[in-house]
Amino acid sequence: MFKDKKVVFSGVQPSGVLTLGNYLGAIKNFSAFSDEYKCYYCVVDEHAITVRQNPAELRRRTYETLALYIACGLDPQKNTLFVQSHVSAHAELGWILDCYTMFGELSRMTQFKDKSQKNADNINAGLFTYPTLMVADILLYQTELVPIGSDQKQHLELTRDVATRFNAIYGDTFVIPDPYIPQTTARIMSLAEPSKKMSKSDENENAVIRILDPKDVIIRKFKRAVTDSGCEVRRADDKEGVSNLMTIYSAFTGKTDEEIEREFAGKGYGDFKLAVGEACADALAPVQAEFARLAADKAYLEDVMLAGAEDAARSAARTMSKVRRKIGFTEIRRK
Ligand code: TRP
Repeated sequence: MFKDKKVVFSGVQPSGVLTLGNYLGAIKNFSAFSDEYKCYYCVVDEHAITVRQNPAELRRRTYETLALYIACGLDPQKNTLFVQSHVSAHAELGWILDCYTMFGELSRMTQFKDKSQKNADNINAGLFTYPTLMVADILLYQTELVPIGSDQKQHLELTRDVATRFNAIYGDTFVIPDPYIPQTTARIMSLAEPSKKMSKSDENENAVIRILDPKDVIIRKFKRAVTDSGCEVRRADDKEGVSNLMTIYSAFTGKTDEEIEREFAGKGYGDFKLAVGEACADALAPVQAEFARLAADKAYLEDVMLAGAEDAARSAARTMSKVRRKIGFTEIRRK
């Protein structure tokens, strides 16, 4: 049924609650793909264990991440939502592709360098080969398009390189995927350091709006957002903080920069920040209500996980059988 549809694949780690950046820059727009594409959205718990996790918390966050995907508008009837560790082909192809990825390539990954600095006491082999598992996630489904944040661009380039290398040795096996980095809202910046991207793992909670933050917290964080010493609401290169708030306000209200500048002409940053906070909190309220309902319904989430895993496993099996044959593994079939 989906044979002719092109494939979209994206993954999100079940660690840390998703931010406004994840929401505006990515998930909010994902639901639009499902008319045109066959879409897989995966909770990547195998990636998460490259840093030490508390087991109970990892389990809880896996359910919650799935619930959040759905609450943000991804209909499980129209998208394949699943958990990475439920489809064993990910780890299997990950191993195989480790053998077609160079030590030097992985050494150059900036995320590995960052993470090994942050986790100096646990630089495990999985942290190093993390990108090859991501390559496997993507190539398993013959993916054409991968929605990602700009921080994942290097991993996508590696995916293309590994796929091209494999295809050159064995003939056409994998589709070469393209990244999809949403332009307008790709870069929601930190509220504390607006030259930095808003990051899920920022240690300064005031820098990050989380999708599940209550209204009073959202308002407080926007009130504290770093701006500049001026008082004019206007987009400019030397007004990174204000420009970031304008991006956010525009994403929630649909207003253009000129409209926003007019609306706040003669008013100070205080009024503007409050308006951004209100707009954000009001827009997130229905997502939060839906999340609360879903997170309490474990049985439903498990139904979604099972259906998603079965569907994903079926497509993954097709790629795996091709790969096994090409590299020379023997196949045994029941008579
Ligand atoms: N590495 C991604 C991140 O940290 C998550 C991820 C894992 C992913 N596998 C993927 C994203 C496949 C897109 C496609 O954000």
